[in-house]
Amino acid sequence: MCGIIGILGSTPVAPRLVEALKRLEYRGYDSAGVAALENGAIGRRRAAGKLANLETELAASPLPGVSGIGHTRWATHGAPTTGNAHPHATDKVAIVHNGIIENFRPLREELIKAGHSFASETDSEVIAHLITEYLNKGQSPEQAAIAAVRRLEGAFGIAVLFAGQDDILIGARKGSPLAVGIGDGEMYLGSDAIAVSPFTTRVMFLEEGDIAVLSRAKVKVLDANGMVAERQVHTFAGGAAAVEKGNFRHFMQKEIYEQSETTARTITRYVNANDESVQMPDLDGVDLGADSAIVIGCGTAHYAGRVAEYWMEQYAGIAVETDIASEFRYRKPAFAKKSFAVFVSQSGETADTLAALRYCKEQGLKTLAVVNVPESTIWREADARLPTLAGPEIGVASTKAFTAQLSALAALAIAVGRARGTLSSQEEARLVHALMETPRLIADALKVEPEIEVIAQELAQARDVLYLGRGVHYPIALEGALKLKEISYIHAEGYAAGELKHGPIALIDEHTPVVVVAPHDALFEKTLSNMQEVNARGGKLIVITDAAGAVACAEIAQHIIMVPACDPFVAPLVYSIPIQLLAYLTAVQKGTDVDQPRNLAKSVTVE
Ligand code: AGP
Repeated sequence: MCGIIGILGSTPVAPRLVEALKRLEYRGYDSAGVAALENGAIGRRRAAGKLANLETELAASPLPGVSGIGHTRWATHGAPTTGNAHPHATDKVAIVHNGIIENFRPLREELIKAGHSFASETDSEVIAHLITEYLNKGQSPEQAAIAAVRRLEGAFGIAVLFAGQDDILIGARKGSPLAVGIGDGEMYLGSDAIAVSPFTTRVMFLEEGDIAVLSRAKVKVLDANGMVAERQVHTFAGGAAAVEKGNFRHFMQKEIYEQSETTARTITRYVNANDESVQMPDLDGVDLGADSAIVIGCGTAHYAGRVAEYWMEQYAGIAVETDIASEFRYRKPAFAKKSFAVFVSQSGETADTLAALRYCKEQGLKTLAVVNVPESTIWREADARLPTLAGPEIGVASTKAFTAQLSALAALAIAVGRARGTLSSQEEARLVHALMETPRLIADALKVEPEIEVIAQELAQARDVLYLGRGVHYPIALEGALKLKEISYIHAEGYAAGELKHGPIALIDEHTPVVVVAPHDALFEKTLSNMQEVNARGGKLIVITDAAGAVACAEIAQHIIMVPACDPFVAPLVYSIPIQLLAYLTAVQKGTDVDQPRNLAKSVTVE
């Protein structure tokens, strides 16, 4: 998404703002900018392109001031131009923003009616004008910021600077992380600990819904209910790795929690939020209007491909074949004339997937890679690519890469539907809108961790666990079973719920927990019957569902993990969160090496 930094300093801040932005470039580098208070007035320097362009701008036109904010952008709304670069400002406030403001259009219209004029195409600019509107009504900087933030919908992290107020900086977080650095007579605000670590080793992490009011002497944190809250100050004496883990115990936990932001980054790469349409990069001859598609991967990446199979069939009406790469490459499969092949891979180095890619190219198929590591072998050898923008995934068990793969594949399914004429522009807009809401839904889904912690204590005692799902959630059940077995070493199997009666039901007894992935969708009633079959045999049901589903299975479920109600199209992304947390927290109970489980490697570069 984007990188944010703010400094209440005692010396000119522009050089240190740039230094922090360099550490945040991994988050995006379409454009960058800084703002600072010059004799109380807001000064700005911005530049499109790499950070070096901003440095050139600053060299030509230095920016004085000891209080400032900075931003490195990954374009979401509006092209990566200087005019769309952050900070966005009025004469009274300057803001930097990371995330998506879902309700920016009605807010923009309201503010234009109130006399505001906008200089950019971005969603972010409404924040500056909204805070200004409250200031114009006589509210204090703190009151104006709180009032404005409470009206914003979506997933975001922001920092706000106020003209004439050089000892106040306000940060707000909802879905995108923010960290406060505690200095000696200085104070810092950044997207993560990495941003502020050049200036201090003492870091406080804001929580969902927090608003932080910084002065050089202190930090006041207001929680989501507006109550003053205490947040722990961590000391990072452990260098970069410790800093990069932030306040998380494992990289896997951190990466689970990054998913609101990493899905937002990937989704906004492939949609035009202004007209709610998908936008594909140049696909170098991959014809999305083809009659059939093949989707290949291994492990978790394969399960992402299985989800895409349902989406592409349902929304694009295209024939889809999926397979695990190690089987596909030896099958000598036949290909339909007009087809293309999609290869899903986090590392871009998986030997079996690469071999399958090369086989398809030999057969004359156009190849499209959905891949997370830039310039990896699969990235380079495919004809075209849809990058997943999850950032480096350190945990061996894939989490944020999986939902980033789903984000890119969901956009691809819509694009195929449009290319084949099976999706109207209205339906395309509906699906894109649902995608744009997903980061916020993921942030909400993460709140169930405390309930899952209790369930994990029981699951850790199990010898075998069964995961069930139907339709597009069958691959999610498979992924849940893989997550559990690969990090907790408990045997787990994913099954199509409808298959239960064809054998696996023999496994059901009071010792075998059954995890059911079951949103209250068109297939729910069928899955409810399966749950009743499990219950009738003394099986213990752990049901992952929404409010409507919870009511229906309250009598028979031992545990219910509640997920926010969501459009069926994006449910696989949202339901991935509890299955990841269930595996992670169970593994923590077992005391296994969560980030580097035994026998595994992050990238399987051998056959
Ligand atoms: C995921 O949790 C596993 N570590 C593994 O199945 C992984 O998804 C598989 O090896 C494919 O890797 P890739 O995405 O890098 O190609």
